[in-house]
Amino acid sequence: MRTFIAALSFVASALAYTVSQPSASQGWTTVGPNTVVWSRVNTDALNFTILLVNQDTSILPSKSEVLSAFVDGSAGQLTVSPPSGGFPIGTGFQVNLVQDPQHLTTIYAQSSQFEIKASPANASSSVPLVTQSTVST
Ligand SMILES: *[C@@H]1O[C@H](CO)[C@@H](O)[C@H](O)[C@H]1NC(C)=O
Ligand SMILES: *[C@@H]1O[C@H](CO)[C@@H](O)[C@H](O)[C@H]1NC(C)=O
Repeated sequence: MRTFIAALSFVASALAYTVSQPSASQGWTTVGPNTVVWSRVNTDALNFTILLVNQDTSILPSKSEVLSAFVDGSAGQLTVSPPSGGFPIGTGFQVNLVQDPQHLTTIYAQSSQFEIKASPANASSSVPLVTQSTVST
């Protein structure tokens, strides 16, 4: 049984590109750094284009934004720059690795759904006020 499972997962991982980040447990923020991590096998295309997608047009009106074109597939990871207008906020995002900007529907791999959160408040604004005790002598 154990051998069977191992063989199955080997077949799955040998198929093509897989995206391990971002993921449901490791999402992005509006300030970043936002990183895409993938694995590649020899039969995969040499490069791909990273697409940010969300089916909810109230979150992403265009439904998809190219984050980076012609990424070197052997790099294994890339910190993406925000699209024009910055990273949107919301849930239900996915990162798709697609063939190139002219073939956005030729999908090599897809991340799991993840969330993009607003940037955390500035550290300086979250310093708690120290209440000083009045010294009366
Ligand atoms: C991307 O890879 C394809 C083959 O998979 C190749 O024809 C093309 O020249 C590459 N483009 C860049 C910009 O590396
Ligand atoms: C956080 O700090 C930066 C630079 O100091 C500033 O431009 C930005 O407006 C601040 N954001 C908030 C939410 O205070």
